[in-house]
Amino acid sequence: MVNIDQLVRPNIRQLKPYSSARDEFKGHASVWLDANENPFNSGLNRYPDPRQQKLKTILAEQKGISPDQIFLGNGSDEPIDLLFRAFCEPNQDQVLIFPPTYGMYEVSANINAIDIQEQPLTSDFQIDLEAVLPRLNNPLIKMIFICTPNNPTGNSIDASAIEAIASVFNGIIVIDEAYADFSEAPSWINSIQQHPNIVVLQTFSKARGLAGIRLGMAYSSPEVIAVLNKIKPPYNISTLTQTEALSQLEEPEALEPVIDEIVREREWLAEQLSTLKMVKEVYPSDANFLLVAFDNPKQLFATLVENGIILRDRTSAVPNTLRITVGTAEENHKLINLLKEMEA
Ligand SMILES: Cc1ncc(COP(=O)(O)O)c(C=O)c1O
Repeated sequence: MVNIDQLVRPNIRQLKPYSSARDEFKGHASVWLDANENPFNSGLNRYPDPRQQKLKTILAEQKGISPDQIFLGNGSDEPIDLLFRAFCEPNQDQVLIFPPTYGMYEVSANINAIDIQEQPLTSDFQIDLEAVLPRLNNPLIKMIFICTPNNPTGNSIDASAIEAIASVFNGIIVIDEAYADFSEAPSWINSIQQHPNIVVLQTFSKARGLAGIRLGMAYSSPEVIAVLNKIKPPYNISTLTQTEALSQLEEPEALEPVIDEIVREREWLAEQLSTLKMVKEVYPSDANFLLVAFDNPKQLFATLVENGIILRDRTSAVPNTLRITVGTAEENHKLINLLKEMEA
């Protein structure tokens, strides 16, 4: 049985967290002389709610969980970093990742002086269970990152592999669902009651179209969430961000048509790309991007740049590949027309 408290680094377990002026006061007041703010009302002269209670109440309702199972961060990159700081001892502990995958897991591990253990995905970008299961006996591995749908490959990771890992691994299992809104697969949020060590990451940056506000969510057991809250900067989510996110959450039905359009465009792009001679493979995608193998990706990349079109060079992660984010219909047509012209 997983004991979250035992997984926490000893210094974090013992930490007396910073207590902000707004943390200590509960109730109603009309004169606020506690936080050294400017008293003249600009709409933004007060510090934001450090616990983001309104946002968490709505999110909890929509996800069918309790507000104390939600952590909000400055993008999902913030909880990624905080998870390392909470659960991995620098220069001692290890993290397991499945490359090719999202680059920040490795960067965050390096920042926190955590050794990275890699278990490469199979040729169809799935978890090699036979290879990974014996490695999970290593007591130094404190955390595992699984990205589904995976960036940069685009595919979802088989649920059976994740279940197999969750049934034996007693460290923290981070399941990054940044792109889950574009996929039909059920969210792993459904498993956080059963597995208190699973942390599901989602974000406002992709399907929700609000990368500019920087808001990411971590869903987990109240025990894990309490640790993240203990070590976060007190006012990590600005008033502007909270207000913008709230107004979007109040209209949940507006999201669906946008997601449907992006998925339709993804399918159109995939179909068009697969008719081109220069394209070697269009990998299946459950996300808002396509990983595509080209004949001569470096030269193509440079030619596209000259024409004002920027793709993501992923040749270092998967040979010969460029990653194409699904744009508007107009942008996608521009790309395809140019590629067709180049082949003519
Ligand atoms: C898999 C994955 N996780 C997390 C992030 C970061 O998201 P955020 O903008 O919420 O920090 C990205 C961004 O590209 C991503 O691809």
